[in-house]
Amino acid sequence: MQESKKDIKSNATYSEIRADDLEWPKHRSQEYWEYRKKWSEYPEKMKVPEFPLCLDIETTNICNLQCTMCSRTIQIEDGTYSDIGTMPMDVYKKMIDEGSKYKLPSIKLNYLGEPLADKYIIERIRYAKEKGVIDVMFNTNASLLDEETAHQLLDAGLDSIYFSVDGISAETFNKIRIGTNYETVLKNIKNFMKIKNDGDYKHVQTRVSMTVLPGMEKEMEEFAKFWLPIVGQVGYGEWVDARGKGTKIEVSNATVTTNYDYNPDFVCAQPFQRMFIMWDGVCTPCCPDVARKYVTGNVNNSSVKEIWDGPEYQRMRSAQTSGNYFNIDICKECYIPQAKYNTKV
Ligand SMILES: C[S@@+](CC[C@H](N)C(=O)[O-])C[C@H]1O[C@@H](n2cnc3c(N)ncnc32)[C@H](O)[C@@H]1O
Ligand code: SF4
Repeated sequence: MQESKKDIKSNATYSEIRADDLEWPKHRSQEYWEYRKKWSEYPEKMKVPEFPLCLDIETTNICNLQCTMCSRTIQIEDGTYSDIGTMPMDVYKKMIDEGSKYKLPSIKLNYLGEPLADKYIIERIRYAKEKGVIDVMFNTNASLLDEETAHQLLDAGLDSIYFSVDGISAETFNKIRIGTNYETVLKNIKNFMKIKNDGDYKHVQTRVSMTVLPGMEKEMEEFAKFWLPIVGQVGYGEWVDARGKGTKIEVSNATVTTNYDYNPDFVCAQPFQRMFIMWDGVCTPCCPDVARKYVTGNVNNSSVKEIWDGPEYQRMRSAQTSGNYFNIDICKECYIPQAKYNTKV
């Protein structure tokens, strides 16, 4: 593969602020840091790892909330959402077993759904840790994160947990995160942090992330001031309109105008890093493909390695490396080539 002259962001739609002197990085292994190095280096060099560096596994697409900005909610409203279900444990274990042969370094146990609504979540974390996965993580809405669950997650070996909290005020949050309320989520996160800090879980990474909707930019600074002392890291994600454009979001009553112009310097990092596996086994190459338009295979009838090396991945990667990403429909309609929060973390 050729050396890249392009500026490829390993995480193009997300930026992060970290408190000084964070504790968890001091408690991660050398293997963890080697994997993080590969996370940036492989896409930068347009090099394909032998096996994905991360499996993003949607263990369930059940969710207890109906957040107004969420691609899941929007697709349900439009009648375009997939069936709803939970990945059987045998399918999950087969992937983890395969990954362990390749020293799979990380898994993220969510896509469009709530991991704490998955009845097997504790068992899944424990299994992955037994099989040597270094970084087991997920994003959660934290509304179901009671004290017992917090203890179980930490004891099972969860390495990183990312809390989604949209907005600094209860007013903003409650307009977006329908089905819970700000006080519950705040209490659950603070309780989790207390349990983590009181126990022997110094390696556990925590972060609060906000999806920045139109009109919410003004809340970003105060959000960081509030959350940094509590969790240590704050993230901002760029909102993607699941309809392409035109979703009106209550919080600001504004729409985003997404720029889909061709960017000659763009190469997408994700096909060189990670693979997305939906609860029913369907695989896709990247997080923006919420409508499952570019299916690379299904783990119910292929191995992860077969899919990773298969024709759809080859086609996707060569379109990226040759500057022809516009030949792939999902890439042509993607906001990442013009991403706003283009900070490398
Ligand atoms: C889809 S949720 C799934 C995990 C969990 N239910 C949660 O809320 O964190 C994962 C992350 O995607 C973000 N998200 C949802 N819809 C989005 C959208 N349309 N654009 C950008 N981020 C979105 C959420 O705010 C959350 O941080
Ligand atoms: S909690 Fe997560 S998956 Fe559920 S609706 Fe909200 S953002 Fe979407």
